[in-house]
Amino acid sequence: MIRASDSQFDGGLLRQAFGCFPSGVTAFCGMVDGAPEGMAASSFTSVSMDPALVSVCVANTSSTWPRLAGASRLGLSVLAGEHGAVARSLASKNGRRFDTVDWVATDSGAVFVHGATLWLECSIYEVVEAGDHAIVLLKIEALDMYPDVPPMVFHRSSFHELASSA
Ligand SMILES: Cc1cc2nc3c(=O)[nH]c(=O)nc-3n(C[C@H](O)[C@H](O)[C@H](O)COP(=O)(O)O)c2cc1C
Repeated sequence: MIRASDSQFDGGLLRQAFGCFPSGVTAFCGMVDGAPEGMAASSFTSVSMDPALVSVCVANTSSTWPRLAGASRLGLSVLAGEHGAVARSLASKNGRRFDTVDWVATDSGAVFVHGATLWLECSIYEVVEAGDHAIVLLKIEALDMYPDVPPMVFHRSSFHELASSA
């Protein structure tokens, strides 16, 4: 057990605490100046039914987000269990994130990853400042769902595949 009551939490401790909550991982991507741009994002959450909204939180330090923010359409791909290498590549700092990723762009400029369990084509609805991140609210314009594809699970900094409890 680890306990901390000082509200000035150490960043590493807070990251460890947040990592106790399992999440999926999305690829948040669009075409910018004729090339795919994007990042891995585990902060994806469904938000509203009417209008149909989801959100992703992006770090204020991100150099990718300001470039994505100018795109008229953005793709969110909910990654599959087998997409560990894709998630790592889309989080890399070397600038060649898409070289080994099997991606496709729509005519409107959203970029998706093949083999994902869900594709959401989105427009930016609102951006809300939130500490050292921004909450990007996204309106779903179209979706393609592959419900039989098992999703990736991100827990305590590791990628997992979903296992049934039976
Ligand atoms: C599994 C995983 C989840 C991530 N989730 C987020 C996220 O929700 N928000 C975010 O801003 N960055 C997230 N990142 C970091 C970005 O993918 C990427 O590394 C970062 O944007 C790189 O900085 P840059 O935008 O300046 O290139 C995540 C990275 C990994 C590996």
